[in-house]
Amino acid sequence: MTIIAKVRSSLTFLAGGLWLMATSASAQDVTYSEHIAPILMDNCVTCHRPGEVAPMSLLTYEDARQYMGLIALEVSEKRMPPWHAAPGVRQYSNDRSLADKEIDLIQRWVAGGALPGDDSLLPPVPVFNDGWQLGEPDIVLTWDSPYQISATGDDEYRCFVLDPKFEEDQWIDVIEVLPGNRLVDHHIVIYVDQSGRIATRRDEAEPGEGYTCFGGPGFAAYMVPGWGPGYVAAETPGDSGYLLRAGSKIVVQMHYHKNGKAEEDLTRVGLRFAKSPKHKVLYNGYVISLSLQIEPGDANYVVTGRMPISEDITVHSVLAHMHYLGKAMDIWAELPDGTRVDLLKVPRFDFFWQTQYALTEPQQLPEGSVVFMQATFDNSAESPYQHSNPPQLVRFGEQTTDEMAVGVFFHTRDAEYISGDSE
Ligand code: HEC
Repeated sequence: MTIIAKVRSSLTFLAGGLWLMATSASAQDVTYSEHIAPILMDNCVTCHRPGEVAPMSLLTYEDARQYMGLIALEVSEKRMPPWHAAPGVRQYSNDRSLADKEIDLIQRWVAGGALPGDDSLLPPVPVFNDGWQLGEPDIVLTWDSPYQISATGDDEYRCFVLDPKFEEDQWIDVIEVLPGNRLVDHHIVIYVDQSGRIATRRDEAEPGEGYTCFGGPGFAAYMVPGWGPGYVAAETPGDSGYLLRAGSKIVVQMHYHKNGKAEEDLTRVGLRFAKSPKHKVLYNGYVISLSLQIEPGDANYVVTGRMPISEDITVHSVLAHMHYLGKAMDIWAELPDGTRVDLLKVPRFDFFWQTQYALTEPQQLPEGSVVFMQATFDNSAESPYQHSNPPQLVRFGEQTTDEMAVGVFFHTRDAEYISGDSE
């Protein structure tokens, strides 16, 4: 039984009794067509529709009614929609969490008997664009032949190396990934090997297309946006962009989650040449703790890391990276005057959701600030994605059974101004 299946079956067990607990005087007023369908259409069906990664479709009244107990449970526990940043800390432009009012409506609808309501009030079913969200890219890269994914077994992590064949440095403002098979593509992380050599060596060292990799590409590389269910592609902000060096290679890290049927995947990566002049590189900044010694049985192992900032920078987005035993992460900065500025709090980390949290208001950090990261791990037998029975001592590393504690902050350098011939 896979880890996901295990978690899911315990949820199904819990969900039965939940709707009985919800109470409200005006529950009868809440109907599917008027109140619930709009919430599901706006917040759920990008993933909950046929051909997508979620286990069931929620496009119709019958679907919603069939799963009402589970839906009420998942939304009240804030497990659905998947969004792991704590509320009220920062605003993120890609926030997909529900408002309390919407959660309340769902509870009341279930408590009131899941009434269908008047059909004429039904919102239209959204039109889905499963193609390039931001239009046809200038360059589309893929690997040679579809990768074969077996019906059953552990999740697979595979890195594919693609060559954009750049003979000079290029400004890119959109990197968009088109997943080849949404039934098994769980999430996709994209890196750039600016040297162009290390990734190729890794690839050549292993037979078949690509190489096995977990958590990262296996070496220090430049991280750019990837893809996950419900991901919304975006252009780089303002005059910032991704500067891809001549000869660089793109590394596509695929996380395949098997679905009981043999599947194949040919994912595509699209690059768009910057449409407007770009003068600033979007850099990766890292705040890491390398000294992990997570004793078996320890359900609350805490490490911290700090990264001094030696020039004025602006942080645009933040990402928490741990492996299966990751439980929580906090990323914040301390300004030179001692003020604390929160960047991201993930109170219930979930390895299966690799989210880049895009700050609605970019955060300036003056020279002399320090970025901090505090990571908590659960290496007890009860840890939701525990991989060892009994639990083992876990250290820093790249294997599925190793751990990492990495806070990534994507930023620009305020003083940087690269003038190019693109103007
Ligand atoms: C970004 C994609 C995405 C969005 C948006 C999303 N879900 Fe899900 N949902 C999933 C995936 C994937 C699963 C399978 C479990 C997992 O991987 O966490 C799931 C599982 C569930 C389950 C549990 C099913 C089971 O058998 O245990 C329920 C209930 C659910 N979602 C309801 C919702 C509702 C209601 C919304 C909107 C308010 C929503 N989801 C939004 C992706 C999504």
